[in-house]
This record gives sequence, structure tokens and C-alpha cells, in this order.
Amino acid sequence: MLTKIMGAEGVDLGAELIAKGEVVAFATETVYGLGGDAFSDSAIKKIYEAKGRPSDNPLIVHISKLDDVYRVAKDIPEAYFKLVEKFLPGPLTVILPKRDDVPAAVSGGLDTIAVRWPVHPLAQALIAKSGTLIAAPSANTSTHISPTTAAHVYEDLQGKIPLILDGGECEVGIESTIVSLTRDVPTILRPGVICESDLMTVLDAVELFRGKVERAEAPGMKYKHYAPKCRAVLASSPEKAIALYDKTVADGLRAEILSLSAHTGVYGSRKQIDLGGDGKAVARHIYNAMHTAENEADLIIIDKLEGGGVYDSVMNRVIKATAGQVE
Ligand code: TXA
Ligand code: MG
Repeated sequence: MLTKIMGAEGVDLGAELIAKGEVVAFATETVYGLGGDAFSDSAIKKIYEAKGRPSDNPLIVHISKLDDVYRVAKDIPEAYFKLVEKFLPGPLTVILPKRDDVPAAVSGGLDTIAVRWPVHPLAQALIAKSGTLIAAPSANTSTHISPTTAAHVYEDLQGKIPLILDGGECEVGIESTIVSLTRDVPTILRPGVICESDLMTVLDAVELFRGKVERAEAPGMKYKHYAPKCRAVLASSPEKAIALYDKTVADGLRAEILSLSAHTGVYGSRKQIDLGGDGKAVARHIYNAMHTAENEADLIIIDKLEGGGVYDSVMNRVIKATAGQVE
């Protein structure tokens, strides 16, 4: 199959393909998604096949206007509308009770459904024109880091999908925050650039789902899907990063440091990519930097991110990318 890359001029074709049950990759503000008709079992099967992902993993349904939420969710709590008012459309996914007529394939058999209203105009146009809602995981193969450019998607999925809609480099750069409204207390299942403190401005209480965080700290095969192609480790200090870098180079291998702006001077002429100087910048650059570095280095060394808020959300991804390896 030939994989075309088109910009906004490809939205009509993309919508046509989705309506026909095909899958299309498209830009969102967080990461690129691999979309298919949320109400078509065969489209959902094609998504899983292209990604090489186990089919019990539930997908996020993407909507382009508030009313769309009623097509997949029921008994929607007041809290959802508070979140809409403050954060949506934007990089936030909400877990709601699922309508019974929504196929089980999209939610991995759960009686809840993940709903996301992206703000990226290309994503909004694609959903609106398709006449349906779009189920979409990140558009990477399930062994790899999430894509933040059309080129990243092409590298993983060329020949497997007919079209990639290129909307430029993703502004947010890490996947949406996921908050569940189907538990006793609203619970963050996946941290993102919308943080606990942001959610607390509109909700009475918010919990962090500890179970997942703990598991993510243990190395294991199930976290491989976030990994770059070469080895990656977290450096607990700039001194450790320098020692590891110099040893790697002395051994005749190529190392590259993903550094915070504050440390670039300390690393001097060592090969490095500056991730930026605040949480949002680091989120925007982290996956892109990993994609670049995995093609240039044998070892990626990542600066430890401290400071809470968005830094913690990026650390959550770094821990997965490094399978918990710390130097
Ligand atoms: O930013 C994003 O959310 C991107 C873009 C494309 O929108 N999508 C994305 O999808 O990250 P994916 O499939 O890579 O991650 C979806 C996450 C998974 O961790 C899945 O377990 C969780 O959402 N999820 C989906 N439905 C769920 C549900 N009903 N209950 C709990 N978790 C759910
Ligand atoms: Mg993903």
C-alpha cells in the first residue's frame, strides 16, 4: 500500500477513507493519532493490526463538538461540563460511562469510554467531515515512542496505512491527560500538560491513580511500547550523565544527552539536544528529541526532570522509555 502524506488539502480524502472503514493518521495537538470509525469493528481491527497492538487495549474516541459526547457516553456527570468549560477542546481525555450501543471493540470490553475533544484544526476538520467519531491511539507501532511529526508516523507505518494528514509538529508533545469520572473521586489515570493543580481549579477533589505510577517504575516488557530503538537511561545528576557519556564514547560508541537548558553549558561540547527550560517546552520536545537521538546514538542519556507539574508528566514518559533504568 502506498502511504500518502498530505496537509489540510487532504482532509476531504481522509474523511472519505474513514467513512469507508479505512484508517488514517492525523495531527492532533498532543501526538499524531491513527484514526478509524469508532462504530466499525473492522476499522478498529485495522488500527490494532497497523500498530501491532493487543486488541484488549481500549481506544480513545475523538469528537469535534460538545454534542458528540452523547453519541458514546451516558449518565454524564456535571464535572464533565466543568472540565469542558475550562479545558476543552484541548489535551484532556475524560473517562465516562459508555453507551450500551457503542461496540465493545473500541473500549476493550470495558463499560466505560475514553472521550477526547482535540483543539487541532486538522483533527477537528477530519472528525467533523467524516460524519462519524474517530477512535485513535497514538500513530506509532506498539513497540515505539509516540510520533510528534508526520515523518515519525511515516517511519513506523509506511506501507500499512493509506494516508497521513500532516499538521506540523505537535504543540503539546506528550499524550493527553486522562481523568476518569467513573470512580468515587475524579482520578488522573495518565498525567499530561493539564496537571492535578489545573484540574483542582474546577473539581472539588482529584486523585492520582497510584497503581499505574508504581508499575511504571518497574522495568518490564509491557513498557517497551514507549521505547526508542537504542538503549536509553535516566541520569540522576549532570555528573552521572557526564561520566556515562564519556565512558560510552571511550568505548567507541555514540552517546547523546537530552538536556535541560540549565545544563547545556555543563555538558559543553558533548553531543546534546536542548529540551528547553520549562515543563511545557520539555514536553513539546521530549519525543522529537528521542526520535532524533535514536538515529544518531547508541545510548540516549536523559536529564532527570524535577520541579513537579508538567515535569512530572514528562518524567512518567521518560521512566517508560528507559524501562526504569537510572544511572
Ligand atoms: O493524546 C492522546 O490521548 C493521543 C491522541 C492521538 O489523541 N491518543 C493516545 O491514545 O494517547 P493511546 O491509545 O496511545 O492511549 C490511550 C490510553 C491507554 O493508556 C488506555 O489504556 C487508556 O487510554 N484508556 C482508553 N479507554 C479507557 C477506559 N475506558 N478506561 C481507562 N483507560 C482507558
Ligand atoms: Mg500510545
